[in-house]
Amino acid sequence: MNADRWLADTRTSYDTVAVSYADQLREALAGAPYLRAALALFADLVHAAGGGPVADVGCGPGHVTAHLHELGVDAFGIDLSSVMIDVARRDYPRLRFEVGSMTDLDLADASVVGLLAFWSLIHVPDEAVPTVFGHFRRVLRPGGPLLLGFHVGDESRLKTQGYGGHPMNVHVHRRQPDQVAAWLRDAGFTVEAQMLIDPDESVPGAVLFARRQS
Ligand SMILES: C[S@@+](CC[C@H](N)C(=O)[O-])C[C@H]1O[C@@H](n2cnc3c(N)ncnc32)[C@H](O)[C@@H]1O
Repeated sequence: MNADRWLADTRTSYDTVAVSYADQLREALAGAPYLRAALALFADLVHAAGGGPVADVGCGPGHVTAHLHELGVDAFGIDLSSVMIDVARRDYPRLRFEVGSMTDLDLADASVVGLLAFWSLIHVPDEAVPTVFGHFRRVLRPGGPLLLGFHVGDESRLKTQGYGGHPMNVHVHRRQPDQVAAWLRDAGFTVEAQMLIDPDESVPGAVLFARRQS
């Protein structure tokens, strides 16, 4: 897939749904005990690593960034969609949110102690994942924790509408945790833990904890 094309389609799609996405997802963590547990563990790992800035990459409307803040994490958000960032700034005016892409992360080397990508890698095509993980490794301090959340499966599908029936034109890639773990190891991460969520559902989720090697 043309690199600029998928980025442009993803950006436009999330610009279109940003307000309704925020309305639907704002309270979602309240009903997601396993995700809350994963975020609490991630916060513990960040504190144990000495604390410091944490990037929520593909933050959407910022509710996960805000949840991390409530856990004492100095989190800030980055998203491809400028409308998502507008909504995040509106809803959480005390927090920092910036427009940017994980394919070309505009952060200094070793500038964050932790990095989270929750259901944002799902739009990145396979051929771009090594580049993205290279950026994640570059911006993380040695030993810094990484938390990924993604849909589990083998298929990719084109999502043509969502979040209240708005038009979208975005590919959603499901992946096996072993494949994601292999990409992470190739990029210089140690994989430490993974959790499968809703394994009996048609599309389970996975959260995967890794750490930048020294
Ligand atoms: C399904 S939403 C997840 C949002 C949020 N992390 C959450 O857990 O609700 C996917 C988000 O990833 C963002 N995204 C997709 N590709 C991106 C990229 N290359 N760089 C940064 N953000 C991206 C989208 O704009 C969208 O806000």
